[in-house]
Amino acid sequence: MEKYLINPNQKISTINKDIYGHFAEHLGRCIYDGIFVGKESKIPNVNGMRKDVVAALKEMGIPVLRWPGGCFADEYHWKDGIGPAENRKKMINTHWGGVVEDNSFGTHEYFELCRQLGCDTYINGNVGSGTVAEMSEWVEYMTFDGVSPMAQLRRENGQDKPWKVKYFGVGNESWGCGGNMDPEYYGDLYKRYNTYVRNYDGCEKIKRVACGPNGDDYHWTKEVMEKVKHKADCIALHYYTVVGDNWENKGSATEFNTNEYYRAVCKAYKMEELIRNHLAVMDAVNPQRWVQLIIDEWGTWYDVEPGTNPGFLYQQNTMRDAMVAALTLNIFNKHADRVMMANIAQTVNVLQSVILTDAEKMVLTPTYHVFKMYKDHQNNTLVGSYITSDDIECKDIKRSCPQLIESASIDENGTICSTVANVSATKSAKIKCQIADSKVKSITASIISGDIHDKNDFDNNNVVAIQEFNDYRKLSDGFTATIPPCAVVKFIIER
Ligand code: AHR
Repeated sequence: MEKYLINPNQKISTINKDIYGHFAEHLGRCIYDGIFVGKESKIPNVNGMRKDVVAALKEMGIPVLRWPGGCFADEYHWKDGIGPAENRKKMINTHWGGVVEDNSFGTHEYFELCRQLGCDTYINGNVGSGTVAEMSEWVEYMTFDGVSPMAQLRRENGQDKPWKVKYFGVGNESWGCGGNMDPEYYGDLYKRYNTYVRNYDGCEKIKRVACGPNGDDYHWTKEVMEKVKHKADCIALHYYTVVGDNWENKGSATEFNTNEYYRAVCKAYKMEELIRNHLAVMDAVNPQRWVQLIIDEWGTWYDVEPGTNPGFLYQQNTMRDAMVAALTLNIFNKHADRVMMANIAQTVNVLQSVILTDAEKMVLTPTYHVFKMYKDHQNNTLVGSYITSDDIECKDIKRSCPQLIESASIDENGTICSTVANVSATKSAKIKCQIADSKVKSITASIISGDIHDKNDFDNNNVVAIQEFNDYRKLSDGFTATIPPCAVVKFIIER
């Protein structure tokens, strides 16, 4: 029997709802087809946005959406995407499949999407191929309420009042597709570009995001932190779970053996080490901890589905992805005191999506159900918790991961939300949970579980879903439960 301790008296920090954020790039069928079909489409839409997708994302509790990239951000010239759609410039999306980008989804459409979703905004600016003036004018266009050339242009394009930009990213992957820069050079550029990202009177202070490291590049974090510590609110780590040995052979999203399943969970668990180590580097440079960590790209990355455009990064999603999401979100929760936001890549039809579409059809992936299950954690207070379990060893990649990974939070009424992931492919886990200084009144529980290969697809879209969970027994100060293999269980505990 594994021991699970929850201490509601140990209040650690608010779990920023933005930890449950998403990312939508002009890449493959994420924006076009997946979200935006245009007003004339036969697919039911409101101002061009798919009704089914918007409703599903709202139901899931999407708190914030990052746009327009990714690598695309450093090639995006925002003025090409405003004004009458028929006059907008067409360009080649060189990063992603070499297809024509007609700019029919631009700034106004993005804010309309976020309005429909009821979510916050995160715009990523262009440092790689854009100018300081261009970035500065974009911020003026979006956020200035007074008399100015860009505010006037916005009004001419039909938007009188400015929008709210919550986060603004100064470049993306500036160590790679965003300009192949060294950290010192990027740090200087960040300071220059950021100077002209103005906070206009009356608009809420924009949170500035500096480009952070690729995985375990601690040197990048140190050097960039030295330059930006007085000027950035957060620094953005990117880390993808790639099961194969290299980028040429990433492995199939659906056809894998048990070892490849464990490689995924053990590689995903590396997030814990990355967060701890990057925070240590950041704290050494900035002991006052002004700068927070965000992870604005994360998730699984496999070879594309056979027969699809390799530049579109379209992949299926199984219970393996659900377990990666469940364990990663528990890790983010546990670092809620320093992790301000995270954005899974990417919302629809790209990489570890929560939604797949095929013309008018839509499928909610196993990952979708994990985000929906975890939404109770959003804005709750993280509390102390600890669970025992054996480690799962992945000898060929010399990594391991605990069999059980949990987190616990409380809402303003003291109700506990606890999510426990059992990543074993074969072994169930008996747990005994004790809640400090508490009398348990009632418990409700739900589960997402299945074979590691289970998935939802267009012919069979309800194989993986959230189900009621009954295999637990309430105790006066906790509960016992048996968590099946490859499962995540949520306990809502009234005290
Ligand atoms: O999410 C796909 C790509 O991965 C993004 O465009 C880029 O930032 C990263 O390399």
